[in-house]
Amino acid sequence: MAALILFGGGGDLAMRMLLPSLYFLDHDGLLPDDLKIIGAARSAESAEAYIAKVHETVKAKAEADEAWDEASWARMKARLDYLAVDATDPESLKGLKAKAGDGETTSFLAVSPSLYGRIVTAMKAAGLAEKNCRIVLEKPVGRDLESFLEIDDAVAQAFDERQVFRIDHYLGKETVQNLIALRFGNTIFEPLWNNLTVDHVQITVGETVGVGDRWPYYDEYGALRDMLQNHMLQLLCLVAMEPPSDLDPDSVRNEKVKVLRSLRPITPEEAERVTVRGQYVAGAVEGQPARAYRDERGQPSDTETFVAIRADIDNWRWAGVPFFMRTGKRLPEKRTEIVIQFKPVPHSIFGHGERGDIYDNRLVIELQPDEDISLSVMNKKPGLDQRMQLQPIKMSLSWGVNGKDAAPPRRRIAYERLLLDALKGDSTLFVRRDEAEQAWKWVDEVADAWSGAGFKPLDYGAGTWGPEAADLLLSRTGRKWNTRDE
Ligand code: BG6
Repeated sequence: MAALILFGGGGDLAMRMLLPSLYFLDHDGLLPDDLKIIGAARSAESAEAYIAKVHETVKAKAEADEAWDEASWARMKARLDYLAVDATDPESLKGLKAKAGDGETTSFLAVSPSLYGRIVTAMKAAGLAEKNCRIVLEKPVGRDLESFLEIDDAVAQAFDERQVFRIDHYLGKETVQNLIALRFGNTIFEPLWNNLTVDHVQITVGETVGVGDRWPYYDEYGALRDMLQNHMLQLLCLVAMEPPSDLDPDSVRNEKVKVLRSLRPITPEEAERVTVRGQYVAGAVEGQPARAYRDERGQPSDTETFVAIRADIDNWRWAGVPFFMRTGKRLPEKRTEIVIQFKPVPHSIFGHGERGDIYDNRLVIELQPDEDISLSVMNKKPGLDQRMQLQPIKMSLSWGVNGKDAAPPRRRIAYERLLLDALKGDSTLFVRRDEAEQAWKWVDEVADAWSGAGFKPLDYGAGTWGPEAADLLLSRTGRKWNTRDE
């Protein structure tokens, strides 16, 4: 028998993401037959009561995706169990160990990271950190390099690095993996993927949601630590890394860590020029009034809900190619995309002006709301005009275009892929200790520069793309952020 233990099994992450993901995996016949799923949390409820809650949440999600069936649920229900525990107490965890048995055990910590250290120590004492055990850690691990190392050292006392799976759910997104396929499964992009042809790269993660009730967590982290340190730097790594020699965990992660090491440190003197901090004030998002962050928080706060940064990668491939990243809450659209902006043609033979009517080629890798990869190229406008007229067209790799009449595959929850990989022990899509360390190091420099210079977040209206300074970050260099309609 193998076991998956969900610490924080009744919490938001488990109910919203992990248990529905497990249902979908089971529905698709992807879970090992003998896998038991054990929810573990403080609440003193019975296994029946817990399973009833799981049923409710999973059914709602599966019905919305037209993937609910009673037979799959019956299979999942038979796997489910629950135990009320104090996860920091070895005695209490012994009961969990008894339920999990002596087979392979994967423990997912979906609890407050401030408890990670004490939980892993208790797990070790209770026999849940044996050689055939793994641990999955949800972000954020730490708030800066120092606190990351403190937690991670405690983890390392109990588990070998090969047993540790640090999750960044962005790595489980289909289009993110598709980016790897695009770069390394084709010959046509790689020769162009460098500073000879690429002008700059943009990474945008826009969210329409506000912080709302999450402020007790968020106020301590802000957009820099909540999104940029992990999701956005991971995306940057996948765009910028050298071709790994294999898809095995170490080959890929070795390349990613090299990118992080090559990030130019942001000095306090530079911070004002290359970073923007913002915080939303009242406005309207998608036609609905939205409150200011400080009103949700109940008092003024210096936490940023928006960040934009220009990163430079000091290596041969990327010298001189800026990577612009921006993310924020209460922006006009939920949109996550990576834009590879190619350089202009050196000379236009079409127009009268210097550049004529040629737009620069642009590869847009869209992760949300739709999953799509599109390349804009110039095309001749049909017709008999004397002067040849050009128009940009988008070549799309989306399923809708290429899947012909077939229904697109169900859009998977990013955690499905990651849970499956963790259960198999494949850590390619997880973050290695040295990666997390480097990412914190770079982010700490930004945070220190801000606090050293007393940079307060600039106001931006809810429903706008952040403070004006974020546009200036690009326009100062003659560039602009990608918009939907281009
Ligand atoms: C989480 C952050 O890691 O990612 C949240 O803590 C954020 O603040 C979320 O909303 C965004 O994830 P996704 O998959 O919806 O883009």
